[in-house]
Amino acid sequence: MKQYRGHAAKVTREKDDDTIRYSDELIEEIRLSNDIVDVVSEYVRLEKKGKNYFGLCPFHREKTPSFSVEPGKQIFYCFGCGKGGNVFHFISLAERLDFADAVKLLADRAKIPLPESEDPREKERAKLRQQVQDINLIAARFFYDALRSKQGEAAVEYLRKRGITEGTIRKFGLGYSYEGWDKLYEHLKSHGISEEAMLASGLVIKGSSGRLFDRFKGRLMFPIFDVRGNVIGFGGRVLDDSLPKYMNSPETVLYNKRKHLYALNFAKNNGGNSIIVVEGYMDAISLHQRGISNVVASLGTALTDSQARLLKKYAEEVIISYDSDAAGQAATLRGLEILNDVGCNVRVLTLPEGKDPDEYIKANGADKFRWLANNALPLVEYKIRVIRKEHDLSVTEEKIKFLNKAANVLVKVDNALEREMYIKKLSREYEISEEAMLSEIIRRTRPAAAQRMKMSKTVETAGKTISAAESTKEKIIHSERFVLSLLCVDNSIYNVVKEHFKIGSYISEENNRIAGILYRRIEEGSGVSPAELMNIVSAEESGIFARILNEECHCDDNEKAILGKIRDIELMKTEMRRDQIIDLLKNRSKLSEDEVDKLESELRELIQELKRIKETPEYRKEGRGRR
Ligand code: UTP
Ligand code: MN
Repeated sequence: MKQYRGHAAKVTREKDDDTIRYSDELIEEIRLSNDIVDVVSEYVRLEKKGKNYFGLCPFHREKTPSFSVEPGKQIFYCFGCGKGGNVFHFISLAERLDFADAVKLLADRAKIPLPESEDPREKERAKLRQQVQDINLIAARFFYDALRSKQGEAAVEYLRKRGITEGTIRKFGLGYSYEGWDKLYEHLKSHGISEEAMLASGLVIKGSSGRLFDRFKGRLMFPIFDVRGNVIGFGGRVLDDSLPKYMNSPETVLYNKRKHLYALNFAKNNGGNSIIVVEGYMDAISLHQRGISNVVASLGTALTDSQARLLKKYAEEVIISYDSDAAGQAATLRGLEILNDVGCNVRVLTLPEGKDPDEYIKANGADKFRWLANNALPLVEYKIRVIRKEHDLSVTEEKIKFLNKAANVLVKVDNALEREMYIKKLSREYEISEEAMLSEIIRRTRPAAAQRMKMSKTVETAGKTISAAESTKEKIIHSERFVLSLLCVDNSIYNVVKEHFKIGSYISEENNRIAGILYRRIEEGSGVSPAELMNIVSAEESGIFARILNEECHCDDNEKAILGKIRDIELMKTEMRRDQIIDLLKNRSKLSEDEVDKLESELRELIQELKRIKETPEYRKEGRGRR
């Protein structure tokens, strides 16, 4: 999901800096018109338990439900993966949309009209996108016709030699770009296309003399489609061994090679649950032609995050079939991790040395390829096999190294049954006891779990590497978030909150920012709900706030809960300062006598202060007005 910080109404786009603005009121109207239980139910089978609903999380793999929806607060939260937020976050994640598009989708669902963007730059951009779209279509037809022309004969012959059928040429819209400098340029000009638009399409380039000429000359042309089947760019292959073998459209307003997958427009409708990823145009085309229709190509680049999420949208399982050479193997491993991270089941199809999928299927047929796909190795086994190749297991030391690395891989397997199965398999294959293997894994489990928690940013106290003061700081930030969350659950505690937490007194800048918005809304009399809080917090933090709202904000007496929290925070702040001073005093050689004196006297005061706070059972500050 793209990042959006701050106000929901202002959505900053990833690449360009134009922003679309909707008013807070409009966003709120859209949110209120889309009940979260209704929306989520379109994606997840929910069951009511108590006041909440539960189901299997759509954002990570699980067998028992840890995904919950709270109709009262209009938020969702997954105990398993930590994702959470309001209905906009849900749609962003479920449909892989950025915030602005999630708002659009839900506005559409509720039949609420959205204002056209007033921003002239945004309008300009939409116009350019449309023009490039038109140019691509004209060019695709031009290349397609060129293939049928006299000059296209060599390209047709080349395709024939490579076993590409007429049906495939038509299905994939293959074409030919004429030799010469400006055949396409002239053609586009005859369609009244402006030079500016031609350049924006990337199909025409400006030379140093200022003259415009075609990017693709004398090449076999592959139109690149988006999921809906629009032509967004092209790849062009030489007909001989000259270099570069392929040329591709540059980044344009339509095309971003990191975000698209070739042939996904065909593969997404194959009806199955898995997608095979290959590297090249020719691999994808060749497999499709032979009836393997669940194939996409990553076009020679390592799989990106966006591509992985795109795949996850259409398939539960992804099978990677890259070249078995070293570079291919490294790319495979990276791709595997990325896919695994977005929650895809990943397997690896390894072809005999030196063969790519196109060559393999031509030589061995579709059934053999299908067999390989069905027997592709699961991620864990593939990783262990790669490690295995790096060690000579007849040498004891090497064997130990191998087993250590294998244990590192197995530690990451969350499912206990699956892990046990691998342990059994390894111990059988490499003649080590299951107990030894298991104890190696258990020994590693704690730091790994800590590491994972650290990565999800929800951890409040981490390992020894973090100083006591740092870890206390994390706890304070968490408590501040609780205060902000509870304020949204119960606006009536505003006076107490405002009295103890002036804007600027939160130790996290982000919390100060959020508080600024919440306070203003409440002062203005418009109030603020938990689901609205979700619009205000940053995308990375929506899960954390959802958890607090879900797990912690169930107090019988909200005012009492807040006062308790205020006391905790004061205590922690004092402790944090104490720990900082202790740390400073550890290196007293670096301090002057004067400084040491000052610190020591502050330390004494802090210790008194701590005693005082701890002795006050329920912290009450005088002058606090009840409402
Ligand atoms: P390959 O060299 O494996 O291509 O590169 P291929 O698809 O098997 O092509 P044939 O069989 O020789 O015709 C894999 C992919 O990497 C990208 C292309 O997308 C290609 O399909 N690539 C490769 C380039 O973009 N430029 C290049 O010069 C080479
Ligand atoms: Mn090839």
